[in-house]
Amino acid sequence: MRILVTGGLGFIGSHFIRHILATKPDVQVVNLDKQTYAGNPDNLKDVEDDARYDYAKGDICDAAIVDKLARDADIIVNFAAESHVDRSIGKPGDFIRTDIFGTYTLLEAARRHKVKRFVQISTDEVYGSREKGSFNENDLLRPSSPYSASKAGADMLAHSYFVTYRLPVVITRSSNNYGPFQYPEKLMPLFITNAIEDKELPLYGDGSNVRDWLYVEDNCRAISLAVEKGMPGEIYNIASGQELSNKGVTRLILKLLGKPDSLIKPVKDRPGHDFRYSLDSAKIRKLGFKPKVSFEEGIKTTVNWYKANRWWWKRLKSGEYLEYYRKQYNL
Ligand code: NAD
Ligand code: DAU
Repeated sequence: MRILVTGGLGFIGSHFIRHILATKPDVQVVNLDKQTYAGNPDNLKDVEDDARYDYAKGDICDAAIVDKLARDADIIVNFAAESHVDRSIGKPGDFIRTDIFGTYTLLEAARRHKVKRFVQISTDEVYGSREKGSFNENDLLRPSSPYSASKAGADMLAHSYFVTYRLPVVITRSSNNYGPFQYPEKLMPLFITNAIEDKELPLYGDGSNVRDWLYVEDNCRAISLAVEKGMPGEIYNIASGQELSNKGVTRLILKLLGKPDSLIKPVKDRPGHDFRYSLDSAKIRKLGFKPKVSFEEGIKTTVNWYKANRWWWKRLKSGEYLEYYRKQYNL
């Protein structure tokens, strides 16, 4: 069995590859990744010599390389995307290109080579925000940012390939992931690493926005279930049910690191900032999914990992990153 994973040098994709290599001895994994600022070979250092793992540097929008790799693939799992909401506000074009056109390029190759399964990694953000209750898989999509709109486009395109061409597409929509190896522009790794260095934590608006926090390894277990047992044409929400305000998460990070709340710096809100995401994940739970990692345990593991692995994030918080960060917060 050969799986083509795209975006496997990023945060979730790298955990997924590690999970597959550890749990499926008969599977060969090929990782197609463009190595954007978010794609980091350090994320898979521990498996790069595994004979069951191959890396191909390339763009999912490049039909030639995608065709070559899809020809030998039984399954495609598409993680590759521009994934950061703030960047999509500044530069939407990159998101439309990779997230929509890249997915189209993969779908075309999957159709041509009759892959047995195409798993599209989508997000809870496609539903938009809601103050109360939770979204199920049949709810309308009302994305708010260029990022979530481009993900919604890809998600719907993937579904259309099931309806029109009977390509066996399965879609997962997960909530906010956190854990080791997350690029330090997202809330959790940015705030943990800033706090370690006694730098301010730029909290948007009044910090009351709510997210459902899913430990990345739990998401990988759920995606693996969707690959194996998901029904073609079906969509699966994946969430932990552990909803917290940004203020709550921030205070907990500071407490775990023994740092003062005075490091919190309220800054201008993100334009179009979704207040709350919430998913009903009964459908994936019926396939056998149950998160193993509580938020309490997951955040401790995560904080300790960033404390112990400065080598991983120190380099990332310089150069291009610093330039982006200074612009973002007018520093
Ligand atoms: P990430 O930004 O850490 O990684 C994205 C990876 O895709 C990088 O390795 C990058 O080099 C690669 N990539 C980008 N453009 C590419 C292109 N044109 N061709 C090939 N590779 C390309 O992202 P992540 O947080 O790991 O998210 C992975 C997927 O999961 C994305 O599709 C994202 O929308 C989705 N998702 C993320 C979360 C989350 O909380 N992080 C939650 C739900 C869904
Ligand atoms: O919900 C799933 C989505 O989660 C994924 O699809 C996206 O790829 C991923 O980036 C994430 O999007 P969010 O916008 O929810 O994540 P982010 O870490 O950027 O922000 C989390 C919350 O924290 C959000 O309410 C904005 C706030 N925030 C974020 C940053 C970076 C701050 O207050 N300050 C910050 O500096």
